[in-house]
Amino acid sequence: MYKCMKIIVLCLALSSADALKLPDYVHRCSVKDPEFDACVLKSAKETVPHMIDGLKQYHIPVLDPLYVTEVRTVDGDLDMGAQNVTAEGIRNIIIKSVRFDLKKKEITVETVVPEAHFTGNYEVKGKLMSLPIVGKGPLDAKFYDLYVKYVTNYELKKLDDGEVHLMPYNYTGEFEPRRVTAKLGNLFNGNKVLGDNMNTFINENWREVLKVVGKPTYDALGLIIHTMITEASKTVPYKNVFLDVE
Ligand SMILES: *[C@@H]1O[C@H](CO)[C@@H](O)[C@H](O)[C@H]1NC(C)=O
Ligand SMILES: *[C@@H]1O[C@H](CO)[C@@H](O)[C@H](O)[C@H]1NC(C)=O
Repeated sequence: MYKCMKIIVLCLALSSADALKLPDYVHRCSVKDPEFDACVLKSAKETVPHMIDGLKQYHIPVLDPLYVTEVRTVDGDLDMGAQNVTAEGIRNIIIKSVRFDLKKKEITVETVVPEAHFTGNYEVKGKLMSLPIVGKGPLDAKFYDLYVKYVTNYELKKLDDGEVHLMPYNYTGEFEPRRVTAKLGNLFNGNKVLGDNMNTFINENWREVLKVVGKPTYDALGLIIHTMITEASKTVPYKNVFLDVE
């Protein structure tokens, strides 16, 4: 159980934006289109490359490199945190599917990031799978073929701009990498033998290690995705997202 978790995510410039239209390069799908899902998938694939470098007026931050100021977690055995983490590789994201269930008001997005590279500073103290671990230094981790599934339910809600917006209110994020490599520098106060052994252990047992330490990372990533979608949704009224919305 995580007793305490603190995630400080993105520095978004949250101006009270006027209601916006979608940019011209976004193909808008009609909610009456029998091939609605296919249309949304195609449109999402076309749109994402335009979002990678950030779209300030839509409250979308720079996504590659994505900057996370802090991820921290404390559980019974392990106190760990990472600061100033940069994630690179989101640029190459592959959108596998997008499902917009207009009746259930549910969105499901499946993507794969071929290679996500995280660098930053970590701090750890406690026990990892019953092995004592302590360290503070540079972190370098790569997630290969990182599958991400995001599901959210939304409501249609009138906001301060007087317009109805699609507002996500809950979500789950599912993450599944094919392989992970990690290097924690300066473990055990710089003791090379202990540090090398621990790094070897982590890399050989990454699946089990991720079960212990993955949750805060995934929670942070899930929250980033969710925050972004929510903030972006506030800028564009629902009637401007799809065609034939009454
Ligand atoms: C993170 O970055 C900030 C701003 O550049 C810096 O002041 C701080 O010392 C950094 N923290 C770590 C742990 O590197
Ligand atoms: C979100 O809420 C809906 C009902 O309002 C529920 O069916 C769904 O399971 C919830 N999803 C999550 C991820 O909590």
